[in-house]
Amino acid sequence: MYPTIPLRVHELTSEEKTVYAGLDPSRMPSHVAIIMDGNGRWAGMRSLKRFLGHQQGAKSVQLVTETASRIGLPWLTLYAFSLENNLRRPRAEVNFLMRLLKSYLESNLQRMMDNNVRIHYIGRTHELPQEVQDKMRWAADATSKNTGTTLTLALNYGGRSELVDAFRSLAAEAARTGMRLDRLTEEDLHRHLYTAHMPDPDLLIRTSGEMRISNYLLWQIAYAEIFVTERYWPDFRGVHLLEAIAAYQRRERRYGGLSDAEAESSNASEDEPASTLNHEQTPVG
Ligand code: FPP
Repeated sequence: MYPTIPLRVHELTSEEKTVYAGLDPSRMPSHVAIIMDGNGRWAGMRSLKRFLGHQQGAKSVQLVTETASRIGLPWLTLYAFSLENNLRRPRAEVNFLMRLLKSYLESNLQRMMDNNVRIHYIGRTHELPQEVQDKMRWAADATSKNTGTTLTLALNYGGRSELVDAFRSLAAEAARTGMRLDRLTEEDLHRHLYTAHMPDPDLLIRTSGEMRISNYLLWQIAYAEIFVTERYWPDFRGVHLLEAIAAYQRRERRYGGLSDAEAESSNASEDEPASTLNHEQTPVG
């Protein structure tokens, strides 16, 4: 189904064009999710206050989104503010992040329109300050008719709380309709996730080198390819998104099955009597 969005490759920087030229258009991801990390360390390395790292991080959000829209990426989902950030960061930092989000939406609306970007949110956003919710609604409404990349910001988001919310919503559906919960399927649960309207991420990128999932899209990343870069988020640009996609294309996605080559050789030897198998040929998952 890719690309369904008109490409604007001519708008890429020359560095981006070089990496893009090496990509296989038939194997582009539909959905890229990013754990944006390292704003504080980026600032610390420069003896700057943490908030300046977040401010520079907001610039990266805008630039990476624009590159995504130019290559026709349908879904880009960014971890902007976790439930844990909300609970565990100093109030002054949380308040700064809320103000930054509001000003980001306000000052980037025109650029989102120019780039045909639609903005959505996932998370317990009803717990955010009312004026932030109002600005979020305003930006979502204004961009709702855009048909390019959908930028989803995960805000006050946690993967486990998303699952709890999905189970609660399923229980309510069961009470309403008499649905049998003992016959629950994966599709039933999927319908109640915040991301029910999107495909699962194909590629999960994490910046700043940490090897953690940090409670992000726990259900949805079951088969995502994971790409970790040492680069801090404020230094992450569109060209690095393209490099991550190039790395993704070098991977072989198996979804628990066999590679094409393995499947072929396994077909060729499927008549092999089981008695000829020894312990060294035991298949691995
Ligand atoms: C991690 O950096 C990042 C965050 C806590 C949130 C991400 C926020 C932004 C990119 C800025 C604003 C975003 C929008 C959408 C306006 P960290 O503080 O955990 O870095 P550290 O691990 O180096 O301390």
